[in-house]
Amino acid sequence: MDEPRPGDAPRRPRGPGTLYRRLKSLEYLATRDRGAVLRFLVQGGAVQAPRRLDLIRRFIAITNRTRGYHTLGEMLHVAHEILRRPRPTVLEAGCGHGSSTAKLSLATRAAGGRLLVFDSFRGLPANREQHTHLDGRAIEFRAGAFRATLPAVQRTVAQLGAPEVCRFHKGWFADTLPAQGSALALDVILLDVDLVESTRLCVRELYPRLRPGGVLITLDGQLRATHELLADESFWCDEVGARRKPLMRGLGQDKLVTVMSQETAPTRARRASLSAILRRRPRG
Ligand SMILES: C[S@@+](CC[C@H](N)C(=O)[O-])C[C@H]1O[C@@H](n2cnc3c(N)ncnc32)[C@H](O)[C@@H]1O
Repeated sequence: MDEPRPGDAPRRPRGPGTLYRRLKSLEYLATRDRGAVLRFLVQGGAVQAPRRLDLIRRFIAITNRTRGYHTLGEMLHVAHEILRRPRPTVLEAGCGHGSSTAKLSLATRAAGGRLLVFDSFRGLPANREQHTHLDGRAIEFRAGAFRATLPAVQRTVAQLGAPEVCRFHKGWFADTLPAQGSALALDVILLDVDLVESTRLCVRELYPRLRPGGVLITLDGQLRATHELLADESFWCDEVGARRKPLMRGLGQDKLVTVMSQETAPTRARRASLSAILRRRPRG
């Protein structure tokens, strides 16, 4: 960002905790996020309008106090997917400063579920990716961007969210995700990881763990590369092990892309545990 020059008007503080931030939230509520808020309130299900209203109020309070990289509408979409499922297992990959994590934790608690949170807690990894937004603007992602420490995120979730439903997994996705046991089954997955190599890794490791009826949602659809990856049939069949490219909403057009579950071919982990069982069987 440029340094202020003599004669420039002084910059008004706009960060977490400022009056500007609170006023901006009110403006978005009346404009950009209004449709999503109304939809969320009337969607019904096990969690009814008064509790949904309370969630909206708390989501806005979190936005006002913590640095985040999503809109209220996006988080309400994910929250609805969580609330529709009884006792869901929810996984977030890419938590930044914990604004999304605190919100997901509240929705997960309301649904009686648990939330698994994966992040390096060192920001983005070193990379050479060069990206183009859907609208044509170029963007690069610096190593270390979005860095927040694990204790800082845990403090945010303790103050504003539901820490009792959260389990944190610190490390690069390449190390932490494959280390999960084969029994892990997921209902809602949220990816917000920026780099296409991180999306590739997360989808490859996590999509096969979706329960029937589950969804994987990515917030990285602002990048063309995310859409190109998800539109690639050979990625799904050869790398993920799916029978075919799954059904998706928002592909090719939206920042938020929702991928539906489908039956997948056995994963590496499942194949390994099946062959272990077969080896243990006594031979007749
Ligand atoms: C944009 S931030 C997430 C923002 C957050 N979801 C929010 O809405 O406020 C992206 C996060 O992805 C994490 N990340 C990206 N690639 C990663 C990788 N390969 N391993 C671990 N963490 C990664 C970064 O550490 C960063 O915290």
